[in-house]
Amino acid sequence: MNKVILLNKRPHGKPVLSDFKIINEEVPTAKDGEVLLKTLFVSVDPYLRGRMNDAKSYAPPFELNKPMQSGIIAEVIESKHGDFKKGDFVSGMLGWKEYQTSNGQYLQKVDGSDTKLSSYLGILGMTGLTAYLGLTEIGMPKKGETLVVSGAGGAVGTVVGQIGKILGCKVVGITGSDEKVALLKSTFKFDQAINYKTTTDIKEAVKSACPEGVDIYFDNVGGEISDAVLANINKYARLPVCGAISLYNETKVPLGPRLQPILLTKSATMRGFIIGDFSEKFPAALKQLTSWLKDDKITFSETIVEGFDHIPQAFLDLFEGKNQGKMIVKI
Ligand SMILES: NC(=O)c1ccc[n+]([C@@H]2O[C@H](COP(=O)([O-])OP(=O)(O)OC[C@H]3O[C@@H](n4cnc5c(N)ncnc54)[C@H](OP(=O)(O)O)[C@@H]3O)[C@@H](O)[C@H]2O)c1
Repeated sequence: MNKVILLNKRPHGKPVLSDFKIINEEVPTAKDGEVLLKTLFVSVDPYLRGRMNDAKSYAPPFELNKPMQSGIIAEVIESKHGDFKKGDFVSGMLGWKEYQTSNGQYLQKVDGSDTKLSSYLGILGMTGLTAYLGLTEIGMPKKGETLVVSGAGGAVGTVVGQIGKILGCKVVGITGSDEKVALLKSTFKFDQAINYKTTTDIKEAVKSACPEGVDIYFDNVGGEISDAVLANINKYARLPVCGAISLYNETKVPLGPRLQPILLTKSATMRGFIIGDFSEKFPAALKQLTSWLKDDKITFSETIVEGFDHIPQAFLDLFEGKNQGKMIVKI
């Protein structure tokens, strides 16, 4: 049989396990022009929360009683498609299913001989591209500037900080545990890191970590953490708005400080960033990331959860900060 995970209910506020349903289906067979895929690794990502709402956004909502989807690495176990053979590994936006067929559209072959296959869901996938393009295209870092990254201990954040260091910035991370603070400074070479859960005054903590002010704020979380960073920005600061995880489960978005006077008086630029808008730059960005990885200039960490049935829980755990680096489910 073939296990499949459906969207069972649309969450109100924080998602819960009963918003998902696991069912059993027959394993499908590949028709002419199709491949049969076996799922190996599943990416769980904060943005999937938005797709569980019935609301228009940059990605269409998931349908009730239909399979959830995300970035997946799979093995071709049967091929009736000229471009793929049995044993190939592929990456694509696929359903939360143990087995599924595909006509090959949007599937990319991946090669696990030089790097872990799962890295195509992280540093060599959407995560790395988001970090690299969000920082370089909107953050536009210059040597000697101060870069602050929120969500710093997660998939995108750990990569942003390292790229900031490569490009000559002073890098300060904001994250949710002392363990992640230590990891940011040791493994990922951040200059400083702040635990937002134990710091009583984040605005003061940012001020003291950034005595020369903040030139770039790579925002993964929004909300009060971002309010505190915004109070410390320099003239001509750039603020790529990559994510707002602290607000994804809010039923009523809380009001923060009005941003216009801050942006105006600092001649600052705040810009929303959606990775799909930069697709023509993916090949060059991947080339750069691959080269840094090969030269040991950059590294990555993964939190691997095992077992198909645990995909929903791994997704929920993102909102509790249970991951370090990229959260991935190994099937
Ligand atoms: N715009 C785009 O194209 C794009 C693409 C990819 C990702 N994103 C966004 O980028 C952000 C990071 O994504 P990711 O895949 O790298 O996820 P991630 O950072 O690996 O995982 C989410 C992390 O968010 C933190 N978090 C959870 N609730 C929080 C809260 N209330 N306040 C502050 N931090 C909280 C947790 O770490 P702590 O322990 O630090 O709390 C958790 O580990 C997300 O907002 C995501 O939506 C955007």
